[in-house]
Order: sequence, then structure tokens, then C-alpha cells
Amino acid sequence: MNREDFQMLDGNIVYFDNGATTLKPKCVVDEVIDYYTKYTANAHRGDYDISQIVDSKYEGVRDKVKDFIHAKRREEIVFTKGTTESLNTVAFGFMNTYLEKEDEVLITKSEHASNVLPWLELAKRKGIVVKFIPLNEHHEVTVENIRKVMTEKTKVISLAHVTNVIGDIRPIEDIGKLCLEKNIIFVVDAAQSIGHIPIDVEKCNISFLGFSAHKMLGPTGIGVLYGKYDLLNRLTPTEYGGGMNSYFESSGELEYKPLPERLEAGTQNIAGVLGMGKAIDYLLKIGLDNIHKHELELKKYAVEKLKQIPNIRIYNAESNSGIIVFNIHKVFSQDTAVFLNHYGICVRAGNHCAKIVKDEINVSNTCRASFYLYNTKEEIDKLVEALNNQDKIFDIIL
Ligand code: ALA
Repeated sequence: MNREDFQMLDGNIVYFDNGATTLKPKCVVDEVIDYYTKYTANAHRGDYDISQIVDSKYEGVRDKVKDFIHAKRREEIVFTKGTTESLNTVAFGFMNTYLEKEDEVLITKSEHASNVLPWLELAKRKGIVVKFIPLNEHHEVTVENIRKVMTEKTKVISLAHVTNVIGDIRPIEDIGKLCLEKNIIFVVDAAQSIGHIPIDVEKCNISFLGFSAHKMLGPTGIGVLYGKYDLLNRLTPTEYGGGMNSYFESSGELEYKPLPERLEAGTQNIAGVLGMGKAIDYLLKIGLDNIHKHELELKKYAVEKLKQIPNIRIYNAESNSGIIVFNIHKVFSQDTAVFLNHYGICVRAGNHCAKIVKDEINVSNTCRASFYLYNTKEEIDKLVEALNNQDKIFDIIL
């Protein structure tokens, strides 16, 4: 699917580490270069032509993001560094005042560190209680299991849309309905789903959502925090400075700007925002449903092939995204990754920043192959061929 748009694929690598970051199509790279070579200017600060171009492109991307995630208002879209910053802003700009001692936040053991540590930190600082929703035999979240652990004190449910190790897609529409019924704030970490499957924040009653552009063909260092207007409007800025205030006096009198500028202090990653806009255009042209279908086909193909190789353990054969986690039995995952690198195959090894998922899958370290729109079955064949040479692993890596 459109491999010619990705210069990184001109070489000999097989890139299966899309869960960590995706490759960038030429149009995204060109957009970033154009900004730096043809109309470099700050946003929201200039009265000359090129700064007006920047303003209109920058705000145009806000509209694109709004439509992309089906938000109601453009003011609900805040540009951040990425998912981690978005989730931290929710925790320390909103939840730190919204939550009280003993209030409960429900997460799972398969969340990424960025959706665990802010809550554990709030538990330390404020005495909130972090509870883990039990997962079913396929390591999935069900509404039934959420109901089992929910109490009167449950104020927040915070979940990845798609998890970064198991790769299961959460039933966010049903969970959103439950949150509406029980007046619970629903936080969604969309880092692994954005650019892979459609998201509708309104339909799913999502209160806050975070994602990073670099996992959806965009540049690094740029992402989005979405919040329902009334909630986002109650979020206290975590940064203060230029661009977010209307005025301030030496007396201390001051006024901050309305959303979204209030939450975008300082010069933003303008090149990143523009690149993200191009990534959205590109993804929409292909169609998220087509991308998801392609990934599922690759996953099914990979699972079937890998199952035929002796000594390969797969931990998430059932999950319905393009992520497959595996090990060569009794081989440390990082050794396998180094071995695969010998064949030009890029996978991620380790705990993938999801350090407590081990309690679910009973293994601390795995190799992860995560597919995207430009990957092919022929590339999976190369992985299979390499893994069929596993008896040479220590000759190769030592
Ligand atoms: N969170 C990224 C991953 O899953 C980096 O690899």
C-alpha cells in the first residue's frame, strides 16, 4: 500500500516497529521542510504575510484534527508534545483538583506507563485509589468486569483504546456509555489506535483523549489533547507564559486567553503541527478502515506462519490489531531482536513500557512486531525465514 511514498523503504530494512513510531511519507517530510525553507514564522504573533500563512495553516490543522476524531468544537483540540504530555496534563491540570482522597481511578495492568504513572503519582500525592480492572482470558477489558470493580467512589476510567503489547481493541463505545450512566470521567490513551482505526470522541462519550502524531505518519514531538469543552475549560494550565495570556500588569492583575490558546503556552512545535496535518490528509485518502483491514490480514498471516515454526511462543494470537508479540522459547527477547536485526528486520524487544502486563501474560519481555499500512506479506516471509534459522542465533549475535 503506497510504499513508494516512504523513502525509508528504499533501503533493505523490514520495519516492524510501528508501535514505537511509524515511518513518514514524503508529503509529511515536504510539509516540514517547506515550513523551514519557504515560510518560517511564529504563529499568532506576526502581522506580515508569511506569519499569516503560518496562522492559517496552523489553525487549519486544528480543524482537521477536530474532524478526524469527530470532536464538536475546534477549541477542544490542544496541541501538546504527545500522548504522555496529554495524559499528564489531564492528571495534573484537572484530576489533581477534581479528585479527592479515596476516589477511585480504574485502569488495567496492560496500560502503557504513561497511563499508569500519572495515576500512581496522584495516589501518592492525594491518596486516590488506583484499581485494576480484571481482564478476561484473552487479556481483554469487558464492561461486565468493569462493573464488578466499580463502586460509588469510582470517578475515572482511563484506558488505552488499543494496548501496545497485547494489541486488543477496547470496546470504548460501550465503556463510554457506562461512564455516561455513572457520571464517570472517561480518559482514553489513543497512542496505538490513532491512524489505525477510526475514533469518534462524541459517540464514545470520551472526556479526555491523548495521542501522538509520530505514531500516525506524522513528526515526533507533537500530539493532541482533546477534552470535552466544559471539562477542558476547567483544566488549570500546567505551563504559563507567552501566547496564553490576554494581559498582565505589574500589580499582578492578569487574564488568561480562552481555550485552546490558554493551554498552549510558548512557541509551539509549528512544523510538527503542519506535518501532522499532512499525515491526517494522507491517512484519510487511504481510509482508516482499509488500513485496519490490511493490518488484520497481515496479523492473521503472521500468526499462521509463526505458529508453524518450532519454539515460537505467541502471546496475543487473538487480538484484533496489527501487533504480534512472541518469543523464541528460552531466548531473551533482546537477543532475538538483535538476531532479527542481522536480517534487516526491526522489531521492539523488552517490556515495551508496559511493565505490569507481565502479570497478565506471565512473561516480562517479548519481541513485538507491529505492522502498518506499508508492510507486506513478503516482509513477514522474511521474518519467518529468519526465525527458521533460530538455531544459528548465538553464532550470529555473539
Ligand atoms: N510507546 C511506544 C511503544 O509502545 C514507544 O513502543
